[in-house]
Amino acid sequence: MLELNNVSKDYVGPGEVVHAVNDVSLSVAPGEFVTLLGPSGSGKSTLLLLAAGILHPEHGTVTFNGDDVSQMNDHDASTYRRKHLGFVFQHFNLMPGTAADNVALPLRLGGVRPRDAIRMAKEMLAKVGLDKRVDHIADQLSGGERQRVAIARALVHSPELVLADEPTGNLDSQRGDQILSMLRDLCHERDIAVLLVTHDERANEYADRSYRMKDGHLSEVEIATGTAAGGAG
Ligand SMILES: Nc1ncnc2c1ncn2[C@@H]1O[C@H](COP(=O)(O)OP(=O)(O)OP(=O)(O)O)[C@@H](O)[C@H]1O
Ligand SMILES: [Mg+2]
Repeated sequence: MLELNNVSKDYVGPGEVVHAVNDVSLSVAPGEFVTLLGPSGSGKSTLLLLAAGILHPEHGTVTFNGDDVSQMNDHDASTYRRKHLGFVFQHFNLMPGTAADNVALPLRLGGVRPRDAIRMAKEMLAKVGLDKRVDHIADQLSGGERQRVAIARALVHSPELVLADEPTGNLDSQRGDQILSMLRDLCHERDIAVLLVTHDERANEYADRSYRMKDGHLSEVEIATGTAAGGAG
């Protein structure tokens, strides 16, 4: 269970201080597919980075299964991410190497033997429609293909929590729908907690719950019960 309690994060950049995340509380339980919508600059990516322990809040706490992520040192925070988390970065953050190497990485870090890791990576790439691109390096992939590599990498080690930043932003609507259905089904079947950030209102058709963010402030929204098992909350 991911829990943020009264979390705030400021950026002291050029010019005035930006209150990127302002007194935000939210939770995501295992098996829950939660969406976070909001305009550009509203603080969505910052919120995910706080949940991942990549950024630390000025105020409030971030806990995962009771462990205080917001207080972890770098070593413990990276252990938390490696063991429990799949993160789809807004700008993908692919490593040098092939698509299969990228997707195998979380498995390798978890101690899976290279040959097994590559086999599992290729299976995961096939699930996102990239079975013919496993040996391409990032520069040889389209934007949407890179995005799907990033999604496969976030899911391959069956994490307990998936944080996905605009995971369908570079995909056509049909491919986007496939990815959202896959994420929702994995979430429900494997009891994964999913927090998905997006501009795309259609994502709410898949969501169990939804939040909206504006100028760093969060509010929970009623979502129309669609095809998903939504309606709770
Ligand atoms: N390192 C930084 N230093 C200063 N200001 C920053 C920094 N990173 C982000 N910001 C500011 O914080 C605010 C929130 O940024 P964030 O990236 O969380 O927005 P977002 O909702 O993810 O936007 P988008 O939909 O465009 O990805 C923005 O106004 C941004 O300009
Ligand atoms: Mg963002």
